[in-house]
Amino acid sequence: MAGSVALSQALSYARDLKSLYETSRARERELEQTQERLRNAYQQSLQYAIDLRKTYRRLQHAIFQSLLGLANALEAKDPYTRGHSERVGALARQMARAAGIPTATADMIAQAGLLHDLGKIAIPEGVLRKPGSLTDEEWAVMRRHPVVSAQIVAPLEFFAEGAVILRHHHERHDGSGYPDGLRGELIPIGARIVAIADIYDALTSDRPYRTRLSHAEAVRRLDEQAGRTLDPDLTALCIRLTDDAAAERAL
Ligand SMILES: [Fe+2]
Repeated sequence: MAGSVALSQALSYARDLKSLYETSRARERELEQTQERLRNAYQQSLQYAIDLRKTYRRLQHAIFQSLLGLANALEAKDPYTRGHSERVGALARQMARAAGIPTATADMIAQAGLLHDLGKIAIPEGVLRKPGSLTDEEWAVMRRHPVVSAQIVAPLEFFAEGAVILRHHHERHDGSGYPDGLRGELIPIGARIVAIADIYDALTSDRPYRTRLSHAEAVRRLDEQAGRTLDPDLTALCIRLTDDAAAERAL
């Protein structure tokens, strides 16, 4: 008798255990399905983030290209400055890389080189292309262009550092530049680079008042300003790079 009670109890336990096991298996399966759904949702949101980033990059590129179009249109009106920004951008990138600046920052400096004079769009033609020397008032107008360049790109959050370079590309090592009279290393390195590339290209290009200078003469003038109006180390770097390019052209 006692034996059959024990047996039926054991059977009942076994049934309970079986049902518990099945319930827990069902929960496990539910959990697995939930995990799978979560994994899918995560993958999807990751894909959204990647797509969003691509769209943002494309948008950045499109905005930048339209600004570049504007800068090129401005330059194209003047045969003396045609291609100037492209060359300044290229030399600025080369200098930045040679100075050990990481690629992404060097690219940003090159972009600033491309857009540095964008603010000249706000200067009246009569002042911008005046053949003779400028009056004090006309100089005051001309000297506003770095600030205007920076203002034009100011809404572009991704180009905040570039805007700073645009603003300071006419500062001088000895503090005699504009708009803020910054000196030495207080001038952002990108602005010091663009300033030197800008001057080298201007010296080696034709101007209404003189024909282009030879590389050797441009180097002599840069060297004269090294440590005075121009950063000495970066000027030496520019001379080395352009010397190499001139030697290659001579081959
Ligand atoms: Fe400028």
